[in-house]
Amino acid sequence: MIRLSRPQIPEIALQQVLDVLDSGMLVQGKWVRRFEQELEAYLDIENCILVSNGTAALHLTLLAAGIGSGDEVIVPAYTFTAVANAVELTGARPIFADIQLSDCCIDTLCLSALITPATKAIIAVHEFGLMADLDKIIELAQLHNLLVIEDAACALGATLHNKKAGTFTYTGCFSFHPRKILTTGEGGAIVTKDAKLANHLRNMRNHGIENNHGKIDFVCAGYNYRMTEFQAALGPSQLDTLDETIIEHRRQATIYQTLLSGITGLHLPRPLKDSEATYQTFHLLFDQASKRDGVKSALLAEGIESNIGAYAIPHLSYYKEKYATDDNAFPAAQAAFQRGLAIPLGVHLQNEDLSHISSIIQKAMTDEPS
Ligand SMILES: Cc1ncc(COP(=O)(O)O)c(C=O)c1O
Repeated sequence: MIRLSRPQIPEIALQQVLDVLDSGMLVQGKWVRRFEQELEAYLDIENCILVSNGTAALHLTLLAAGIGSGDEVIVPAYTFTAVANAVELTGARPIFADIQLSDCCIDTLCLSALITPATKAIIAVHEFGLMADLDKIIELAQLHNLLVIEDAACALGATLHNKKAGTFTYTGCFSFHPRKILTTGEGGAIVTKDAKLANHLRNMRNHGIENNHGKIDFVCAGYNYRMTEFQAALGPSQLDTLDETIIEHRRQATIYQTLLSGITGLHLPRPLKDSEATYQTFHLLFDQASKRDGVKSALLAEGIESNIGAYAIPHLSYYKEKYATDDNAFPAAQAAFQRGLAIPLGVHLQNEDLSHISSIIQKAMTDEPS
C-alpha cells in the first residue's frame, strides 16, 4: 500500500528515545527544553512552549487570551474539527468563514461581514501547508482590534514574504501528529514573541505551577498539557533535516503540477503570491464528486491510499445541530469536502510512484462511467 504519508524517524532519534527511557526521566527533563530551543532557532522567535498536541496549543492560546463565554472567534469553515472544538471548549462561539478553493484557506472577502462587537479573534489556518492570506487578515484584525492566532499545524517551515508560518501573530500553534511533516507521535507547540504570555502558557500547561528559581507556587488552575521527554527526543533530529524534507515535498508538488495540469475537471492547489508551501497534504479538487470517487477507487485498486483532506465543520452533526447550519451555507467548504481528495506526497515516494499515481488519475478522469 502506498500511504498518504509516512513518518520518517531517523535512527539517531530511536537511540535518543531509548536513552530517555533508560534514564528514568520521562517527563520534565532536558529534551523538552532542548526541542523548544531548537524550534525557537528554526522559526527565529523568542519563545516556544511544547504541549501534548496541536489542539492543546489552540486551547491554551485561547484561554490565555481570556476568550470564553459570550465571545466569538472566526474560524475557517473547512479544516480539521479541532480548530472549532478548541473555541467551543472555552465556551466561546466559533463563527465560520467560507474558504477560497484555490488554497482551501479562509476567504478574506467574507471576513468583514462576520465581525460583531463580540468578535475577539480570528484563527488563520494554513491549510494543507499553504499560507493563509495573513496580510489581509492582520490588516482587518488591526482595524477591529482583534487577535490573530495562526494555526500552523500543517505548515511548519512554510513561509510568506520569507517569514515562517506561526511567527506573524499573537501565537502560532503547531501539531506533531504522525500525519505532520515532523512527528513526535502526539505533540504540539505554541510560539510567541511575548515573554509574559509565554510564561503564562508554561504555567497553564503544567497544572498552573510556577517555578520561580526553585520556589514552587500554584498561580492558576492549569492543565496537564505537557509533552513527555521521549516524545520530545524524537524532535531535534527531524528538525535537523526538515528543510531537506520540505524541498523534497516542493519538488514532488512540482511534478504533480506538471503531470496533472490541463486535465479537464481537475484543479490543483495554488499557493498565495510570495509564499512557499510545505505541501503537508497535496489536495486535488474535482468539478464532480463522482469523478473524485472514481479516482479514489482507481487508486485503491492499485494499492494507493487517498482520502478526504478535511471537514466542512458547520455541516458536521454537533455544529449543524447547535448552530442550525443552513444546508446551502459555506458552499466552498462543502465543495472541498464533497469533491476534494488528498493524494500521497512525501519522502516515502519515488518519482515512479508520482508518475504511476498521476497516470491512474489521468486515466480515471478520461474513462467514461460504465
Ligand atoms: C489544521 C489543524 N489544526 C489543529 C489540529 C490538531 O492537532 P492535534 O491532532 O495534534 O491535536 C490539526 C490536526 O490534524 C490540524 O490539521
